[in-house]
Amino acid sequence: MYEKITNFIKELYGNLDFTPLSVPVFIGNEKKYLNECIDTTFVSSVGKFVDRFENDMAAYTGAKRAVVCVSGTNALHMALMLAGVERDDEVLTQALTFIATCNAISYIGAHSVFIDVDKDSMGFSPKAMCEWLSQNAEIKEGQCYNKSTGRRIKACVPMHTFGFPVHLDELVAACNEWHIELVEDAAESIGSLYKGKHTGIFGKVGALSFNGNKTITTGGGGMLLFMDEKLGAYAKHLTTQAKVPHRWEFKHDHIGYNYRMPNINAALGCAQLEHIEEYVADKRATAQTYAEYFKNVEGVDYFEEPAGCRSNYWLNAVILPDHDKQQLFLQETNDHGVMTRPIWELMNRLPMFEHCQHDSLENTIWFADRVVNIPSSVQMKFNIK
Ligand SMILES: Cc1ncc(COP(=O)(O)O)c(C=O)c1O
Repeated sequence: MYEKITNFIKELYGNLDFTPLSVPVFIGNEKKYLNECIDTTFVSSVGKFVDRFENDMAAYTGAKRAVVCVSGTNALHMALMLAGVERDDEVLTQALTFIATCNAISYIGAHSVFIDVDKDSMGFSPKAMCEWLSQNAEIKEGQCYNKSTGRRIKACVPMHTFGFPVHLDELVAACNEWHIELVEDAAESIGSLYKGKHTGIFGKVGALSFNGNKTITTGGGGMLLFMDEKLGAYAKHLTTQAKVPHRWEFKHDHIGYNYRMPNINAALGCAQLEHIEEYVADKRATAQTYAEYFKNVEGVDYFEEPAGCRSNYWLNAVILPDHDKQQLFLQETNDHGVMTRPIWELMNRLPMFEHCQHDSLENTIWFADRVVNIPSSVQMKFNIK
């Protein structure tokens, strides 16, 4: 049933035996910078590429300060701590996300509460959040509390699903109204803009990921973005074992974390960042090709970016008519060497989070039954030597 689509995707990516979902491309100074790390022996926790990557990323995103981390997951953990989330607080987030979002909340001993997503962004819905809060929360002494559990609702973590920005203006307004800190999980949205501004800089902290399948990679890695320079400086301190700067003494003034990205990974990041706009342009061109193609395909809709946004189209998504067709599409494409995958199992269906409070999750379930991600790498032609 989906043979034509399978062949179209295969051809788009150069008729390979196996078309992966999302792989990195290295077309620039990667080897040069990596060799420089080795030649100078600066492969580990200090080195010029760490500072440079932070400065370059701050300039690229418009953040006042950027702080590298070892992974997107520990960037999220740190972001939540910096937003003031404590044990037994509640954090509003999506059930439609990668597990790292909820794991980070759990590391603190806080509880996830799942709010529905919007139909046009596939991400956290400010409208659904306000509806849920109106029924379930109250403000006491300037803090938001869940009326049924008595717990404080400290933060909300929207996730820009597959690079599609959520409705950030509405979300910022809702967070202000309800005294809730905004922490953006921008792991998938490097290069994605909301009304011309980079995602990840709208709240107290934003977290990015540079895992190997992302738009740019450092092998593994993450980053914190801040508009508050002081908070950024504090994050740098905490992510580097909270060591008091001194030439030889080892004194620490907090429980710190070894969350610092090694220089060798940052070197890769610097080289990758030099080409990010080419990668995003390439991904958007692929998205355009898919959009045109699926216009003429009955029974498969192509998901396009919300109005007013520039998505990085990290992962392209199609919407099948129902769960059975979704499964058939997955089966046929994967059987024929085209890697596709469904959305992550919803968080509220996993044993660790099945007890968490949630709203109707109507759109979330609708997407989970229908979405399939299709190959989205920067065009293979860059990769072929
Ligand atoms: C939505 C989301 N949050 C967090 C992460 C965690 O990032 P990392 O794999 O770098 O820990 C990822 C991706 O891997 C992600 O997709």
